[in-house]
Amino acid sequence: MNKEYLYRVSAAGRVNLIGEHVDYCGGKVLPCALTLKNTVLARPNGENVLRISWADLPGEAVLDLEKLEDGRSMQHAKYHAGCAALWRKAGHKVVGCDLRMDCTVPYGSGLSSSAAIEVSTIAALATVAGETFDPVEVALTAQKAEQEYAGVNCGIMDQYASARGKAGHALLLDCSTLAVEYIPVELGDCTLVIADCKKPHSLVTSKYNERRGEVEEALRLLKKRIPASSLSEVQPYMLEEYKTLLPAVVYRRAKHVVEECERVRRAAQLLREGDIAGFGQLLNASHASLRDLYEVTGKELDSLAHAAQSHPACLGSRMTGAGFGGCTVSVVRKEGVEEFKEFVAERYARETGYRAAFYDSEIGDGIVVEKL
Ligand code: GLA
Repeated sequence: MNKEYLYRVSAAGRVNLIGEHVDYCGGKVLPCALTLKNTVLARPNGENVLRISWADLPGEAVLDLEKLEDGRSMQHAKYHAGCAALWRKAGHKVVGCDLRMDCTVPYGSGLSSSAAIEVSTIAALATVAGETFDPVEVALTAQKAEQEYAGVNCGIMDQYASARGKAGHALLLDCSTLAVEYIPVELGDCTLVIADCKKPHSLVTSKYNERRGEVEEALRLLKKRIPASSLSEVQPYMLEEYKTLLPAVVYRRAKHVVEECERVRRAAQLLREGDIAGFGQLLNASHASLRDLYEVTGKELDSLAHAAQSHPACLGSRMTGAGFGGCTVSVVRKEGVEEFKEFVAERYARETGYRAAFYDSEIGDGIVVEKL
């Protein structure tokens, strides 16, 4: 069947090592692209429609290129409608084509299945139209599609990692400038373990947008005294000095952001130096801050991270992504991984009643385009 298609275009899911809920505050983040990805098989269809089908969903969606707005309300095809509409609005050619999706990023797991879908869709649209593309522009357009068609007021981290990830490397991405430094992820006798708490999370979008509003409020209030254009420019001592300007909740949110930015700086340095134990401790500190100050973990992610942290083979563990469900990422000694998984799964099931899932993934590349 693949023979009928002309191109295979993929983009990655991601795991964020550290730098959580700081991308939309202009901070630096440290995600890795995964080998879990969305793959699009594409061919022109000579009609004025996008015909979308899925390897794991029945039926197909047909989007009229002149009425892409109508796709907004579609459950799955809204992402494709948004991508096509915004890519075209940015001045690019979009031609009628058939796009078949095959996503190995588990949906709703906090590993950015939606970014992988958006980024690979735009790259496929450009490829079918015979255009070369700039992966950063693809990422920015995909972010807009997530904001305008999926309603999540997200930052740039997921789409950027999905587009520009590099096998074996983390991206130290400065979300103010979009400058990126690739840092090899060399963990010695350790490896990354990704665990999904498997709790259905329905409130992510509203809670996410609420947090974003709170930190925008923090910046607005701090600006009365500090000439900062983003919260990431505020040093922890400055926040303490002007603490009284902020309502208590808003102060806690801002404290997470400014301290997390500091942790990212240190974590990148420790990773470069190969200090994996120190790196692991920063993961634990990040989780604690997301739990106590940013309040985006919840009972399940706390149980999963705390179980991981208490195992002797684990050097550090934290929630990754938006939170309110989804995954943790842990640094675990290779020789203890199987025992670690058993221990964590058992304790987590006992505490919450959910069965955790563990995903096998390497650190992969961002966009890959192949001619078939
Ligand atoms: C989601 C968003 C990202 C980022 C993370 C939290 O994944 O899409 O932009 O804000 O949450 O770090």
